[in-house]
Amino acid sequence: MNSLDSNIQEHYDRQGLDEAILAALTAAGKDISHLKPEDLAPIDEFHIRGREATRELASQVQLNSSHKVLDVGSGVGGASRFLASEFGCRVTGLDLSDEYCRVARSLANRLGLDSLVSHLQGSALDMPFEDNSFDIVWTQHATMNIADKPKLYSEIARVLQPNGYFAMYDVLAGPVSPLYYPVPWAPDSSISFLTTPDKLCELLNASGLRIMGWRDTSEIGREWFKEVAAKMQQQGESPKLGFHILLGPDFRLMAQNQVLNLNENRIVLIECVAQKPA
Ligand SMILES: C[S@@+](CC[C@H](N)C(=O)[O-])C[C@H]1O[C@@H](n2cnc3c(N)ncnc32)[C@H](O)[C@@H]1O
Repeated sequence: MNSLDSNIQEHYDRQGLDEAILAALTAAGKDISHLKPEDLAPIDEFHIRGREATRELASQVQLNSSHKVLDVGSGVGGASRFLASEFGCRVTGLDLSDEYCRVARSLANRLGLDSLVSHLQGSALDMPFEDNSFDIVWTQHATMNIADKPKLYSEIARVLQPNGYFAMYDVLAGPVSPLYYPVPWAPDSSISFLTTPDKLCELLNASGLRIMGWRDTSEIGREWFKEVAAKMQQQGESPKLGFHILLGPDFRLMAQNQVLNLNENRIVLIECVAQKPA
């Protein structure tokens, strides 16, 4: 593993994460021997607007039980378990973080989804898959850490079957810079590599993918953060289940910066679907 990848891994890895998630679920009143995918949604959908954003992206590609899906940068596996349980498709998660893959496997096992879902430690820049292996390549809030974007999108196009779809929901660079750090994906600029919407279109075209759908969801993201803040104020405390379990002690500052970056157009949220031609 190169030093950039180990810095990214170090940023995300949390020792004892599995146990911390189970303890938080128990504290929130969930029965951990009978967990359902929705019990985990506040913690395992590690992107702005959580499960809602995943449902919306899934509605852009017609998933069914015959599909093989690759989730690039799958984190603790929330989307993989949701897609498998909702549509019956088979999902492979690929993530740099060993600890996240371990947690993703353990949660899939608890939910009885391990025949449909698997998680592999590896890099999006060197995917351990044959050409044309997947019907859908999916990614949410993972490409921000990846510097070599031409290689990333060419790997995505390579492992996609002809006529297959690439579905993405990502944080891109807005018209204003620089970013406020730390952010949930990086303590500073050393592991943060945002691309602009224009550049992303160029990159997708250059990798041979045809853009079929494009949606800027930044304003919906701002509204979502307002609702989350209002709910927390009403309840008078932070929820027991949330991204703080994944992000550790800097969570509050990261969350504040995320909101500032979004409100000041330093980041934008883009949902996009592209197809690999036949
Ligand atoms: C913010 S998390 C998002 C996780 C998941 N997609 C979700 O939305 O819940 C970003 C993930 O991308 C992974 N990641 C970053 N760079 C990667 C790379 N080069 N290859 C594979 N995974 C990577 C990180 O390890 C982390 O799990």
